Amino acid sequence: MTTSLVTIAALDAKLSGRYRKKFTVSPFLTRRVVSFQANRGRPCHRWYRFKESFSADLVEHLLHKYRVRGRILDPFAGVGTALFAASRLGIASDGIELLPVGREIIRTRLALHEGLSDSDRATLHYWADACPWQRGEAKLRLNVLRITQGAYPSATIDAIERYLAAMHTENRKVFVVLRFALLCVLESVSYTRKDGQYLRWDYRAGRRRGATRFDKGAIGEFLPAIKAKIEEILSDTAFTEKNYDDTTTSKITLRDGSCLDIMPKLSSNSYDAILTSPPYCNRYDYTRTYALELALLGLSDAEVSALRQKMLSCTVENRTKDLQNDTYIKFAKISNSDELLASILHRLEAEKKHGNLNNNGIPRMIRGYFNEMSCVLGECYRVLKPDARLIMINDNVRYAGISISVDLILSSIAEKIGFVTEKILVVPTQKGNSSQQMGTHGCVPLRKCVYVWRKRSYDI
Ligand SMILES: C[S@@+](CC[C@H](N)C(=O)[O-])C[C@H]1O[C@@H](n2cnc3c(N)ncnc32)[C@H](O)[C@@H]1O
Repeated sequence: MTTSLVTIAALDAKLSGRYRKKFTVSPFLTRRVVSFQANRGRPCHRWYRFKESFSADLVEHLLHKYRVRGRILDPFAGVGTALFAASRLGIASDGIELLPVGREIIRTRLALHEGLSDSDRATLHYWADACPWQRGEAKLRLNVLRITQGAYPSATIDAIERYLAAMHTENRKVFVVLRFALLCVLESVSYTRKDGQYLRWDYRAGRRRGATRFDKGAIGEFLPAIKAKIEEILSDTAFTEKNYDDTTTSKITLRDGSCLDIMPKLSSNSYDAILTSPPYCNRYDYTRTYALELALLGLSDAEVSALRQKMLSCTVENRTKDLQNDTYIKFAKISNSDELLASILHRLEAEKKHGNLNNNGIPRMIRGYFNEMSCVLGECYRVLKPDARLIMINDNVRYAGISISVDLILSSIAEKIGFVTEKILVVPTQKGNSSQQMGTHGCVPLRKCVYVWRKRSYDI
């Protein structure tokens, strides 16, 4: 028999009751602070607009509030917001990131932290002022993926390919900064816009003839965009060198790969806090939205497809990962035995059978998401010091009219692993569901929260 929505709502209400006292609406957690928006005014953090990032203000607030010292970990480091903000407070930070775009950004920022020589600064000023690539004849072909074909106006491609050829004549440090500046402006000079689940294409690209015509507005020109970006980097690093006491900057270590592979290699009881925001269970496909950047970094179509499968399951294309090993089998079992999750999956499988889902991969994605998150939580527990906290930012989601309380389900899993739920800090303005969902199922606000879990003072 199909699990009814009433049964799911009752299980959700039961779990909500259990956590009622833990929920606190936190006025500090504005939409601005929990997203990239608050980074717009912050030197260095503002260089690359990583839409899925949280803000340095949020990291500083949480690190102060919970008096974190020592060493932290972010297993989903993104562009390194937590790492750089913590390091500035004198806290050493380790990050793990799978997406080459985030890693490139973190590594460039680290290189810039070491400082630019006067001659490198002079060369970069020359690039911003005199635009030397414009005079050169040489061009270097911009790597293209299937999903980035035709992403730029032809004059922009021409300019980018001259820029690519010219930057190869510079020394390594200058080259790295120039490539980074290019990475930062790609979207603005393209026909595309990042739109969560995929790249949206402006009608002028002549690529799609869908029912709705998307007009991105002004398509940025390459010359002013790249000049402005190089100038911004020069100005922020000058600011940094003048006002920033490098001696208080603690070490940042970045590990490349999936946290599911890397965390088991980290020592037990070694971190004073984990501060992170995993991908949300919202079908956002980072390998599609960041395709322009992945192409620039030289990935092939096959590498992008392989990367998609490595990412934490949050798209309908993710196949089930093999978690049947000694490290993970027990954590995947914990997630599979969660009553609320099981009832939601049961209902979604029935909806799938009746052809009511807009994509049949939804139940597999949700099962995979919680299985994998359970494994990540298990490893977080092991690597944290006793009494240390795991602080996580995440969103609830909704599919086929079923609101999925990610906060409650993950808290319940975390507790089975051994964590104590201290608080679930709620972002005051709640998010609606997608327009598609709203049309069919009405608007139900979805909670966005910061979960604060503490490892017990004894080890499992
Ligand atoms: C919500 S974003 C984190 C943003 C980050 N807090 C910041 O401010 O930049 C989630 C990140 O997890 C990364 N990710 C996805 N699957 C991963 C995996 N298996 N291992 C490590 N990182 C992964 C994504 O590439 C993305 O950068």
